[in-house]
Amino acid sequence: MHGAAFEALGIDGEWSYGAIELAPEEFGRRVPELEADGYVGANVTVPHKRAALAISDDASEVARAIGASNTLSFREGRIHGENTDAAGLLASLPEPPGGKRALVLGAGGAARAVVWGLKNGDAEVEIWNRTAERAEELALHFGARAVTAGECEVGAYDIVVNATSVGMDRSTTTDGGGAGLKPLPIAADGLRANQVVVDLVYASGETELARAARERGATVVGGLEVLVHQGAESFRIWTGLDPPLEAMREAAKST
Ligand code: ATR
Repeated sequence: MHGAAFEALGIDGEWSYGAIELAPEEFGRRVPELEADGYVGANVTVPHKRAALAISDDASEVARAIGASNTLSFREGRIHGENTDAAGLLASLPEPPGGKRALVLGAGGAARAVVWGLKNGDAEVEIWNRTAERAEELALHFGARAVTAGECEVGAYDIVVNATSVGMDRSTTTDGGGAGLKPLPIAADGLRANQVVVDLVYASGETELARAARERGATVVGGLEVLVHQGAESFRIWTGLDPPLEAMREAAKST
């Protein structure tokens, strides 16, 4: 995605993007060395996002509020921590969430960024999680409301975001009959048009939630779209350039 963006802007001679795999115990030692290796920054993913914030010399308000960083910049021996996950989500929505009622499924790291983003965008946010205490903690932290499965009437929400890992395991989610939704408090026939359904899971092909939502006329935002937008925001931070979204989207789709 980033390689395609560099090419689209004709800066692929000066810029490159590559993957470095690190064990958690190497993270704190290796990342501060990257600037000397020529890196201007890094995207950080699971399970390192909290550690990325912890090693940052300074961090944005968003990264501190979410408690995690997915985008680091290296500047003269200092590490700056940002978080573009919430911005990526907001940029993926067809319209700003202000005044809308949103249901967030999940209470892990991904859900944290989503809840912060939606709350910051002035949505009314409710959180369901398999482990109810985690939903309650997250709700308390961000001024949202935790709900039980019995309280979730899915058709009542303007925005539904799946921030759980349900749907990642394709083998259990592709029967098309709604069985893959069972771990979630959502019945396929409760979904409706005029809803925005975001599934952060980026699997190849459509998740069962996305399909059920699409079949009922909802606006579906896939995890790949959110990924592209968070990547685009990271790109802007490192290069100072407007990200070429279409090139990034096409590249993300083709991998
Ligand atoms: P991430 O950082 O990607 O959000 P995580 O912190 O491990 O990852 O969170 C995974 C989320 O998916 C959690 O909300 C988890 O629910 P629990 O808090 O109850 O563990 C949710 N999840 C994972 N598998 C699930 C399943 N089979 N059914 C329902 N929720 C599930």
